[in-house]
Amino acid sequence: MVVLALVGCQWGDEGKGKIIDYLMKDFDIVARYQGGSNAGHTVVYSGKKFRFHHIPSGILYKDKMAIMGNGMVIDCDVLKNEIEELRENGFNCKNLFISDRAHIVMPYHKQMDELEERAREKKIGTTKRGIGPCYTSKVERSGVRVYDLVNNTDISGAIEAAENRVKSFGDNISVDREGIERYCKKSRDLLKPYVCDTSLLLNEKIEEGKNLLLEGAQGTLLDIDHGTYPFVTSSTTTAGNAATGCGIGPNHIDEVMGVTKAYTTRVGEGPFPTEDHGDEGKHLLEKGAEYGTTTGRARRCGYLDMVILRYAKRVNGLTSLAVTKLDVLEGMKKVKVCIAYEKDGGEIKEIPVSFEGCKPVYEELDGWEKTFDISLTPNVREYLGFMEDTLKTKIRLASFGSGREETIELE
Ligand code: GDP
Ligand code: IMO
Ligand code: MG
Repeated sequence: MVVLALVGCQWGDEGKGKIIDYLMKDFDIVARYQGGSNAGHTVVYSGKKFRFHHIPSGILYKDKMAIMGNGMVIDCDVLKNEIEELRENGFNCKNLFISDRAHIVMPYHKQMDELEERAREKKIGTTKRGIGPCYTSKVERSGVRVYDLVNNTDISGAIEAAENRVKSFGDNISVDREGIERYCKKSRDLLKPYVCDTSLLLNEKIEEGKNLLLEGAQGTLLDIDHGTYPFVTSSTTTAGNAATGCGIGPNHIDEVMGVTKAYTTRVGEGPFPTEDHGDEGKHLLEKGAEYGTTTGRARRCGYLDMVILRYAKRVNGLTSLAVTKLDVLEGMKKVKVCIAYEKDGGEIKEIPVSFEGCKPVYEELDGWEKTFDISLTPNVREYLGFMEDTLKTKIRLASFGSGREETIELE
């Protein structure tokens, strides 16, 4: 029996979906534990591109269980599209289970996301999927859970609280009560077949000795506590929440794998020390097709940052790494890697609480023309060796394409 939590090490979009899909061959169950439709996890399977927002990326293994845990926030309209797309492609979702404790993203949460973002002097660049407002309702104790929708409980208190919140943006602004009613009705019918106590289910399966893969969304630097606050998402994305977010004891987690790109990207606003606005950033954007899976926005691109990875190791307790998109660096003569920041004339090697005045200190490694040729090519091995030595963490998987087969397990 093994329980492995998988987390993004950077600002999301590290290729978690691809790695989950690859690892799933050795697991019986996959479970998401936080986030919602702000996530966009891509899996390329049999030439078809699936973009998952809620549904765990391991769903394509029909005989294995896919669970949406209590820590998630669910937009039923987006979920409906995901289920329909899967059905059209021959996946009936009979292996999908949704927690009765997960929270519902209501239409007014998306309305609030718009209003709040518009009112902010310093924009966050949210996905406008209602994620922050929904988690706010949860913490404020006026949220609507899957249980409430499915059992048709009285949610007038939740709507009243929402009405008060939107009114603070203007007396003429209100929630659309009829729209809410329509949404609740159709969502009830959508959710019903999948709802159960997923914590109970998972604990029973762990007792039976099943292997469990916990799929993180977003990345370490988008974590509400450990990220580049306030330019973060509204959930705990780091490994500690993998237990809480699906209702298992933390002592069940045996391994924590971090996924990192061979370089760095970020969508939305906020600090990014190694961002490159020149030709190399452009190369990464184009060759890496770095456009957001959820919003289509161009991702900001830059070099690999070992300060971030060292931090990701610390706050997640990483036991191994998966490195993706090595192929995107092909054709670069030299590859820069940030090993520290220069600040106030000194050098720092740990993530500061504020990045103001931090300038990256780079080391240059030799580039490569081809990543894989029977095995990984020598300079790629050097690059990965450099990462392992700096982090003192084993790289278990290297990825050089979006397909399942474009992955190599390192001994
Ligand atoms: P996630 O949110 O962490 O699951 O990542 P996304 O799916 O949002 O973004 C990663 C993108 O890179 C997707 O389009 C993947 O298909 C693609 N991808 C993943 N691994 C590789 C790789 O090794 N090489 C290339 N070229 N693309 C990859
Ligand atoms: P996956 O799981 C990349 C970013 C948004 C914004 C900030 C807050 O695909 O890696 P939110 O809508 O969550 O309140 O936005 O977080 N963000 C992501 N960036 N990948 C994601 O998910 C993200 N989910 C949120 O761009 O900067
Ligand atoms: Mg993504």
